[in-house]
Amino acid sequence: TDYSAILVETKGAVTLVTLNRPEALNALNSKVLDELIHAFAAYDSDPSQHCLVLTGSGEKAFAAGADIKEMQSQGFSDMYNANFFAGWEQVTRTRKPWIAAVNGFALGGGCEVAMMADFIIASDTAKFGQPEIKLGVTPGMGGSQRLTLAIGKSKAMEMCLTGRMMGAEEAERSGLVARVVPAAQLLEEALKTAETIAAMPPLAAVANKEMVNAAFEMPLAQGINFERRLFHGLFGSEDQKEGMAAFVEKRPGNWTGQ
Ligand code: HXC
Repeated sequence: TDYSAILVETKGAVTLVTLNRPEALNALNSKVLDELIHAFAAYDSDPSQHCLVLTGSGEKAFAAGADIKEMQSQGFSDMYNANFFAGWEQVTRTRKPWIAAVNGFALGGGCEVAMMADFIIASDTAKFGQPEIKLGVTPGMGGSQRLTLAIGKSKAMEMCLTGRMMGAEEAERSGLVARVVPAAQLLEEALKTAETIAAMPPLAAVANKEMVNAAFEMPLAQGINFERRLFHGLFGSEDQKEGMAAFVEKRPGNWTGQ
């Protein structure tokens, strides 16, 4: 497929997607969104691919936000009629695992896209922020909700009201990112983590993802029941038989995804 605003490569069972507008610090315009929707859907439906890494090109930015120049002249009815940004929900509906490898600025929409990932691995130079207030607006791709769920009200409110940036160390301490690595090793570490996930029984990977995400949507008792039923369901899979046999026989498992 011909993409122009992103790059898509496959490395074994891992898909690497790179936001590719370095001249605009990978600002997220409509073209980026359209191409990401396509690339993520292609990943999700490709049985040979089992994990995806999203990163930014250049050292400076993962993404410095939604494209301000594209939004500047839009009016309320333009935004409302286009249901602007609603397309990002398609990216969040990806069923297989994906990781955001944040290599620099993740601001506004950039921070919001990173938070759509199953988890974030950040370089020590990463900077997160929701500076929309300085533009007279607010987060519009889920940031006010996902940031609050990730780091709690006090820090999320401070970030949104002041627009300040949060460095990688604070982001890890606050629970926004899973792990911080030196900038020079970011991609290698993210791909290594993705390979680890891609080597897992694929049904179990999707089930684990689905159940952690359920914690954001369901009351505790319902979430625990959802977990238990999915857990029971996996006993109907070939990979459960294989996984447990492999453990008992002290050998690596050989997954069919069935
Ligand atoms: C369009 C952008 C951009 C953006 C940077 N650029 N961010 N273009 N939309 N979000 C462009 C600049 O215009 C410039 O283009 C080039 O990228 C390099 O950026 P500089 O500003 O020259 O770099 P630097 O001085 O190093 O500053 C880096 C920065 C700054 C601190 C990250 O670029 C910045 O503050 N960017 C905006 C961050 C932001 O407000 N993000 C939130 C966007 S709103 P030229 O052509 O001049 O070289 C958003 C909200 C979504 O995401 C929901 C609400 C509607």
